[in-house]
Amino acid sequence: IETNWNEDMAEKAGYDHFMLKEIHEQAITVENTLSVKEEIENIVKDLKSIKRICFVACGTSYHAALTGKYLFENYAHIPTDVILASEFGYSFNSLDEETLTIFISQSGETRDTIDAIEMAKEKSKTLAIVNVLGSQATRIADYVIYTQAGPEIGVAATKTYIGQLICIYLLAAFFSKHHLKDEVFANTLLRKINLIPKLIEKILENEDEIKDLSLKYKYPPNFFYLGRGLAYPTALEGALKLKEITYIHAEGYAAGELKHGPLALIDYCVPVVVLLPKGDSYKETMNNLSEVQSRGGDIIAFTSDVEDLSDQKAQDVFEIPNDLGEEFEELFAPLTYIIPLQLLSYYISIYRGLDPDHPKNLAKCVTVG
Ligand code: G6P
Repeated sequence: IETNWNEDMAEKAGYDHFMLKEIHEQAITVENTLSVKEEIENIVKDLKSIKRICFVACGTSYHAALTGKYLFENYAHIPTDVILASEFGYSFNSLDEETLTIFISQSGETRDTIDAIEMAKEKSKTLAIVNVLGSQATRIADYVIYTQAGPEIGVAATKTYIGQLICIYLLAAFFSKHHLKDEVFANTLLRKINLIPKLIEKILENEDEIKDLSLKYKYPPNFFYLGRGLAYPTALEGALKLKEITYIHAEGYAAGELKHGPLALIDYCVPVVVLLPKGDSYKETMNNLSEVQSRGGDIIAFTSDVEDLSDQKAQDVFEIPNDLGEEFEELFAPLTYIIPLQLLSYYISIYRGLDPDHPKNLAKCVTVG
């Protein structure tokens, strides 16, 4: 019987840190957020005249927004821009009443995002995707969708990110259904997305593998994260997680951009995390992986095709189960590939003797511009 616990630990439900607890709450966050799909469909039905979408966000929420661009452009055929909230004031003049500006913010209080909503409201329709009930963003935007993540304490966003992504997938499905009149895509997405909670649980069962990887890679001072297409924003988010809580310098790159500069930095001291979901981008990303390999970089690959990688192409391979079928792996990769990357950052932080819940210089909610 475990007797060595205090109130603080109880709040963490037995986990050592809030961040780890929140990583483990992602399957339930997906389930809970999927339960608001009817509300999301009603909002989309109300937005018939929309011809363009503009996402605005900061930090992790910005990476969710970038994922949205790929989904909206490809599956709803709606031209979509993504703007950092702090840059919004310098480039928003083309918004009009046929534009929907979507703000993503877990806190709903980020100063730059709030300022941007005020500006956008003058010209366009506004929708806020927020986790905190009654926060400022929810009071200003025309429409509000709540990610159903519950309280997130760890400074580095994890479960709120997955909640934001679910809202974006649902929006893309309903825009596809009502604007593009593509019921087939919408229905398939809505069916397949129900499999995500189980898949997340399955990935979390292999946490020990990530622990081993973290121990092995706790020293290098620089990392790269590579992905293409929908896996590109995930690479950015993986790199951000590492920076935030381990203080290791990490850069996320679109795999195809590697040769336009960063390749000069790759040598045997630089681990390169490569995201390789099966799909349209797979072959090209594999080619980029060879570019890294020939410069001596240590490759840590995340893929469902472990056999394809075992041929000495990567130093380490973590398997993402392919339960959705090859046809859908890439589409849903942002929801699955991020899980081991969050764990990798968490455990590297632990092995470096840091407190992942309270990274230096960072705050959960940034209310200054
Ligand atoms: C801070 C947090 C990040 C978060 C960003 C945007 O920098 O440390 O985790 O992604 O703000 O926050 P928001 O609440 O607007 O999503």
